[in-house]
Parts: sequence; C-alpha cells; structure tokens
Amino acid sequence: MGLIEKLCDAYGPAGREHGVRAIIEQEVKGSCADIQTDRLGNLICRKGPAKGGGEKIMLCAHMDEIGVIVTYIDKKGFLRFSNIGGVFPARILHQRVLFENGTIGVIGIEPDQDRAKPAAKPKLDLMYIDVGARGQEEAQKFVQIGDIACFYQQAVRIGDGRMSAKALDDRIGCYCMIEAMKRVGKTDHDLYFVFSTQEEMGLRGARTGAYAIEPAYALAIDVTDTGDTPEAHKMQVELGRGVAIKVKDSSFIANPAIKDRLVELARDRAIPYQFEILEKGTTDAAIIQLVKEGVMSGVLSIPTRYIHSTNEVCDLKDVQATIDLLVRACEKGLG
Ligand code: CO
Ligand code: ZN
Repeated sequence: MGLIEKLCDAYGPAGREHGVRAIIEQEVKGSCADIQTDRLGNLICRKGPAKGGGEKIMLCAHMDEIGVIVTYIDKKGFLRFSNIGGVFPARILHQRVLFENGTIGVIGIEPDQDRAKPAAKPKLDLMYIDVGARGQEEAQKFVQIGDIACFYQQAVRIGDGRMSAKALDDRIGCYCMIEAMKRVGKTDHDLYFVFSTQEEMGLRGARTGAYAIEPAYALAIDVTDTGDTPEAHKMQVELGRGVAIKVKDSSFIANPAIKDRLVELARDRAIPYQFEILEKGTTDAAIIQLVKEGVMSGVLSIPTRYIHSTNEVCDLKDVQATIDLLVRACEKGLG
C-alpha cells in the first residue's frame, strides 16, 4: 500500500487525529530538524538553515476528517448520531462507518412518510447507524455514547492516474507536505510544517499552531472543489489542470503579493496552475492569517470532486504540481 492510501484509509476524525499523526511522524522523522506535538495535537516539524534565523514560513495541512458521533442508543440497538464537521446527509446514506475500536456500522434511514417517494432530502435526524447488534445491550458492547466514527472506505486508483478515497480532504495535503519536506534542499528560510488538528470543527489546531510559531508567511495546503462534472456550479477549476492557487474563498482573501509570488514560482518551472475562487468553504489559512498581528497567507489547493463524501476524487498530476510548487515556495521563500 502506498503512502497516500495509508493516509486516506487511516482513522482520524476531528479531535481523534493520533493515528494519522503517528503515520506522519514515522514518515518524516528523518527529514526535519525538530518534531513536536503541541497541546491541541498539532504535529509541528521544523526544517531550516543550520544556524537559524531567516523568515519564518508556516506550511499547514490538516490531519482530521469529518465524521459522526454517537448521541443515543435505542432499545433495538440502533445508534443515533450527530455530525463532526460538514457532513452532507445525501453523501453518507448507506455508507459504512468505522469506530476507533474497529467496530463497523452501516448508515440507514427511516422510510419516508410518503413511501411512494424516496426521501428526496435525507436528513441526519432520520438516520441511524446499524452496527449489527440485536439490542441495546449488545450495541453497548461495541460502542458508547460519545464514540466517534469516520467513514470506512478503501482508497483506490481509478482511470489513468486518478484516485478515489475518503479523506483526501486533507490527507492529500498532508501527503504533499510530507513529500515536500523530503525534497526541500537548501533554504535560507525557517520552515514549520504543521499537520493541524480539528480543521473540520472550525480551524482550531491551526490557530494555536500559528500563535506559537508567529510566522511571517503561511501557506495552507488543502483540497478545493471543481466545476468539471455534469451540470456543476460554474467554477473554472478542473481536475488535471494543475495546482489551484487560491484567490478567495468564503472566509479568506489571499494576500495578493503571495498569490503573485506563487504564480511567478510556478511559471519559471512550468508547473501547471490554475486560479481558484471557492464560493463555499475555507481552509486553515483563514485563521492563520488573523493570528497575532496577522500573517501574509496564501493557499495551494488540490482540485477534488465530491468533497466530504466517502469517495472523493483527485488527479495525481495535480498532486505532483502541488508538491513541485510547495518545494519551490519552501526553497525560494514567499517574500
Ligand atoms: Co474539509
Ligand atoms: Zn480540508
């Protein structure tokens, strides 16, 4: 199994990132000077000039993924649940979930009041998790109230160099950072690779990470939507057309100098790129930008279809372009 598959398949809903963190730590320990885990669980890896100094640059990708949390176990052993992060009911119906202890469940839904029609708009409060239990007591052997599950799906390669997996948001960003960290050669900059926690719950890890580091510049590496599927909302981003350099999303405007710098760095190595304006959603950069006196920030996005479903899809050519541009930014700086 490759590293991307290993990262995507790992259990790591927001607040429960330790499994993902262990994989990353193992992977990067030979390629950075210093590794720390902070109180919120962020993994912070420093790499820089031997004698220290230089501009501080924070690179950030989140380890956590969306999930569900058990709120109630009924007499028959079915679990009611709430969301951890942005869970779209229509995207999770009849999918499998995985609890930390290995318990697997299937998401079902109450039949529509009008049985002639399938539930057009499935809602979370009509859904339940079936862990195969014969009753409440048996269910409690597998799960407790407050247990958190992620979705259960195996990463696969599809088409020519594309990938389908759960949690490409944002394990693919973590992968890009790991690969960049291994590849970055000589740099005069003080680089902090932050693998953040609880992004899906409101960008929480990135906030404390940035506070501690006080970077001058920051880049988040995360997925973005595309406009290239049938009848999709009009959006210029397409799979396979390169790394997306963010201009704006719903909570963030990229610093124009950083955006232009990224374009310049991409151009002089002929790294394919496209511009991104994401109308719904945001990334860790939205909060990093606002820490202390402010941080000049930008975002590198990996175009991804069906975000927050159990089968997100991306193109490995875009992943390569993202790594290439990230390495350039780390070596040449953002100033
Ligand atoms: Co997300
Ligand atoms: Zn994300």
